Amino acid sequence: MKRRIQLHDRHDKVHKLWEVGESEMEKVAREIITFFHAGDIVSLIGDLGAGKTTLVQHIGKILGVRDTIESPTYILMQDFQTNDARFPFLRHYDVYRISSNEEMEMRGLNEYISDKKYLHLIEWGTQIDATWKITFSTIF
Ligand SMILES: Nc1ncnc2c1ncn2[C@@H]1O[C@H](COP(=O)(O)OP(=O)(O)OP(=O)(O)O)[C@@H](O)[C@H]1O
Ligand SMILES: [Mg+2]
Repeated sequence: MKRRIQLHDRHDKVHKLWEVGESEMEKVAREIITFFHAGDIVSLIGDLGAGKTTLVQHIGKILGVRDTIESPTYILMQDFQTNDARFPFLRHYDVYRISSNEEMEMRGLNEYISDKKYLHLIEWGTQIDATWKITFSTIF
């Protein structure tokens, strides 16, 4: 089933919308990167299996990440080096298990996300004050 993917800015304005199957996810990733700058915080919001990790994997591939990108559910975040001068470093998070800002603070996440060297891609980052929000939903 296809997904509806929407790119919102921090004021919830929708900048772009796609309705795509899995084979078009690379194209979405290519277009979406053009909106980002190093230091941006991007929240990926959608149900289990919505396609959040898939998008991150495509972004990584386009930027030249060599390591395997998986959902960092149990380790919270993982850093990657790219070979792209615009975004030399990628930080991929899964904050599904983080339920409050106190916990964010306790685990040092607020500090991690403010590192401007990285492009921050945060699965389940609903409560995070993000530069961009990407919402995923299934089209039935
Ligand atoms: N645009 C798409 N259309 C159809 N299927 C897709 C699309 N994008 C991803 N998928 C498929 O959806 C499944 C789940 O994707 P993915 O693991 O990326 O979801 P997720 O949102 O990261 O889930 P989780 O919340 O468990 O981390 C995968 O099997 C993937 O191949
Ligand atoms: Mg995931």
